[in-house]
Amino acid sequence: MKSNSYDKFYGITTFGESHGKVIGVVIEDVKPGIKFPLNKIQDALHKRRPGKGEYSSARSEEDEIQVLSGMLDGVTTGMPICLVVYNKDAESKDYEHLKDLFRPGHADYSYFKKFKIYDHRGGGRASGRETISRVAAAGLVEDITDGININIYPVKIGKFEISEFDASIQNELSWHDRSNYNDLIEYLDKIKEEENSIGGIVEVRITSIPAGLGDPVFEKLDANLAKAILSIGAVKGIEFGDGFKLAALTGSKANDQMNKNGFISNHQGGILGGISTGNDLIFRFAVKPTSSINKLQKTVTISNEEVEFKSQGRHDTCIIPRIIPVAEAMIKLVLADALSYQKLIANDTLQLSDYREAIDKIDEDILTALCRRQKISELIGKFKQKNNLQIENKDREKELLSQLEQKAKLWNIDGSVVLKIWQIIISESKNKQ
Ligand SMILES: Cc1cc2nc3c(=O)[nH]c(=O)nc-3n(C[C@H](O)[C@H](O)[C@H](O)COP(=O)(O)O)c2cc1C
Repeated sequence: MKSNSYDKFYGITTFGESHGKVIGVVIEDVKPGIKFPLNKIQDALHKRRPGKGEYSSARSEEDEIQVLSGMLDGVTTGMPICLVVYNKDAESKDYEHLKDLFRPGHADYSYFKKFKIYDHRGGGRASGRETISRVAAAGLVEDITDGININIYPVKIGKFEISEFDASIQNELSWHDRSNYNDLIEYLDKIKEEENSIGGIVEVRITSIPAGLGDPVFEKLDANLAKAILSIGAVKGIEFGDGFKLAALTGSKANDQMNKNGFISNHQGGILGGISTGNDLIFRFAVKPTSSINKLQKTVTISNEEVEFKSQGRHDTCIIPRIIPVAEAMIKLVLADALSYQKLIANDTLQLSDYREAIDKIDEDILTALCRRQKISELIGKFKQKNNLQIENKDREKELLSQLEQKAKLWNIDGSVVLKIWQIIISESKNKQ
């Protein structure tokens, strides 16, 4: 399974651990000739790194991006682009005291249960540093989402909520309420003093978004946004429009009625049936309190011995400011996909290059499927050998070919061509078994 790839219209694979040599990303299918937005990407990376504000930790990382491939004289060549950031501040010895224990709130325990190997050096792939790759990748699809405004800000931090919203107010928390900002800062200072942490709720409001984005039924826009946002560490919930409050409303209150100018309200958050309506797209997501805290907590070691553990050093009191640029990157990746797919069906605007792009993508999908088929077929071969089963099964082969031929007829594809292709695929699989 390609679980480290965000592989839709644009093929994006992220790699690297927080305390390995690099964190990086490979991006495929980016058009040639695009000017590499180095400054923009670097700016976004600086926003998500720690040590940039009062409520962030002090691990100083420069996060300078390096381009390893796919670029010539500052523009994309159409070849796979590889971007990396070196982990300069990654002192593994700082993590020696964690060597055998599971940090509460972190992914240490679940990773160990899954992989049976414990990389104690700062969370490995579960670390917030992995998100550098996503921010870098999003920089390369920005020209596609140009014109769409994405606003992201917290509406709740701990017990504080936005009551008088004013978008013009700027501060390190992106907190848009002057009336309670000083009280919030006092509250965060107190939590910091107590060596504790706090979470909150972040709202996303996307304006100037065209209607028609999102595809039935497994590529719904809300489903894809939810997956993208929930793939960010520390995000624990998401709701669209009035979200969970909709459950308590009657239909007459929940429906967004229309007049000739469009929607009269926006309880649904700008999405109906998984497709954008052109109304503002609104959703909220919940961020949990930072797991690393310098307070004594109970845990166990990998040999199930009970111990007490306290994190060392400075940690983010609240990670919302660092999550905002990551959420923006994930939203851009989802929207870039949705816009690119939409371009394919809005056939009045299609050029030959668009058709070629689409067919190249399909060919790549076929190749990926063949590769996965090959791997599974090898596993079947090994299983059969281990269990002394006959490798060749002529009856099953015949049945498969007849099913494929029937399906081909249903889809108006020449059955004899499909048979020829699968005969080659099956014979190749047998060679590998
Ligand atoms: C940008 C970013 C930075 C993060 N920084 C920290 C951090 O400094 N300390 C911490 O305890 N967790 C941090 N996290 C959260 C952990 O990665 C996350 O809580 C942990 O891996 C467990 O995953 P889960 O909370 O999604 O279950 C960060 C997450 C992101 C996205």
